[in-house]
Amino acid sequence: MSIGTLLIATHNQGKMIEFTDMLSGLDISLKSATDFDLPEPTETEDTFVGNALLKAHVACKATGLPALADDSGLSVDALDGAPGVYSARWGETATGRDFNIAMERVNKEIGGIDGTQTAHFTAVLALVYPDGHEEIFDGKLSGNLCWPMRGDRGHGYDPIFVPVGFKTSCAEMLMETKNKISHRAIAIEKFKNYLIKNA
Ligand code: IMP
Repeated sequence: MSIGTLLIATHNQGKMIEFTDMLSGLDISLKSATDFDLPEPTETEDTFVGNALLKAHVACKATGLPALADDSGLSVDALDGAPGVYSARWGETATGRDFNIAMERVNKEIGGIDGTQTAHFTAVLALVYPDGHEEIFDGKLSGNLCWPMRGDRGHGYDPIFVPVGFKTSCAEMLMETKNKISHRAIAIEKFKNYLIKNA
């Protein structure tokens, strides 16, 4: 199925810039949720796929355009996959998001990160067409947790996550390095290949 105009179902300018950059060179025109003043749906599902599909369906229905939405998070094995789909919520405070608090909580619930604890980041992209057709693209980045927090680049849980094969946390690496290996980059690459095949 070819796509003329694609709605990226995000209000996050940073994500929009990332998508625009990674999808440049393809023959599609991109619109964002902000262009249509769409409301942000509440993420009520308990899986990444469920939440990504929910956001894509809402945006597709509101605009009549094929819509792409993403959901992502950190899953810690020792915490049975938490914070998982609640990764953003663990950082919520009365005055906005603070991921130092979220990372302190991970450390506390584990009982002290010692470098042996394994975890992974997941990114899921859901593409929904006006006729209801759905496609899912996912990416995973595995690693170990580290403590104390290391580095001041990146975002979210990057300072306590060291990818497999690396000695540096995601917050210590250059953005270009992380963008080559990240869960999001893997999912976007799968999406790009799908678009190229279905152009
Ligand atoms: P959402 O996908 O916008 O719902 O947010 C997911 C949350 O997962 C983010 O707020 C981050 O806390 C966390 N997260 C997702 N990807 C990454 C990453 O690459 N580095 C660090 N944290 C991430």
